[in-house]
Amino acid sequence: MSTQGNVILEQNFTPPDEDSLGVGPDPEAEYQELLKRICAASVTRRFEAYRDIAWDDPEMRVDPDDSRWELSEDHPLGATGWYQSQPAGIRSRIGLNLSAGFCYTGRIFEGILSRGLLRFAATQPHNSLEYRFAYHEVIEEAHHSLMFQEFVNRSGMPVPVVDDEFVQGSSGVAEFGTTFPEMLFIYALGGEDPIDYVQREDHRKGSTRPPLIQRISQIHIVEEARHVAFARSYLRLNVPKLNDERRTEMSLAVPVILGEMSKRMMQPPEHIITTYDIPQDVIDEAFTNNPVHRHVVVASLAKVRDLCEELGLMTTEARELWRQAGLLPD
Ligand SMILES: [Fe+2]
Ligand SMILES: [Fe+2]
Repeated sequence: MSTQGNVILEQNFTPPDEDSLGVGPDPEAEYQELLKRICAASVTRRFEAYRDIAWDDPEMRVDPDDSRWELSEDHPLGATGWYQSQPAGIRSRIGLNLSAGFCYTGRIFEGILSRGLLRFAATQPHNSLEYRFAYHEVIEEAHHSLMFQEFVNRSGMPVPVVDDEFVQGSSGVAEFGTTFPEMLFIYALGGEDPIDYVQREDHRKGSTRPPLIQRISQIHIVEEARHVAFARSYLRLNVPKLNDERRTEMSLAVPVILGEMSKRMMQPPEHIITTYDIPQDVIDEAFTNNPVHRHVVVASLAKVRDLCEELGLMTTEARELWRQAGLLPD
């Protein structure tokens, strides 16, 4: 399928199946096969932020009064009486600002992940397909970050940038690329799985959002399928090789990482709450005490939860942390 050029929306778009390592008799050989497949796909189905999005087409213009930015009734905040009682221009701006805020969060997450992947790649031997795919992934994330940032710029919405302290603090995650790659790949899934779930659900329901954000989603869904497959397969192959101490450390860290990441990926950032004066009880109604929202969070982590079960990372102690973080089904 040709997808290149200044495209508004890819018609007949089908999200790729997540392709990950199975549990056959020779996991190492299967892993190498998977790496070959995703490396090849990174050559044949790839996108560039400033080539494959028709930014300047009139259809792609961002208008904060466009009612298609409004949150639908099945969005946790869109369902609240408070949101529905706001004037149309505020409803659409909240929707647009949320999209811009999530794009910015995505850009920050991808920057940290890329720093970790570069460290991971640095220690790989000659002829390593892991080296090659890690670089494909960094290149793809770089284009995602460019498209996310361009969207934020064109939205004209206020989105505060992170400070030096945040960048310093996140260096610890990047260091996992050499010191504890399994932890880096769990961090990757913690960010990628929830956002991928939300984007695929929006597509599956037949999105009515403006074409620009749909196009960004299409590109992201296609390329994230490879990243998720790599992270899952890496974990499947390598977590069983960890010693007991590291496995315990990981089992306890996973629910903390996933709880934090899914909150960042699925709840409005503080600046949106203050910009639009969203009352605390509305936030509680929409997110903190909303069983429907909780169900979506739990569903978005189902695949990574199953993987943790399979890898023996769901010890009694860990399960309790998952439960406290609200990440387990009832
Ligand atoms: Fe990405
Ligand atoms: Fe990714």
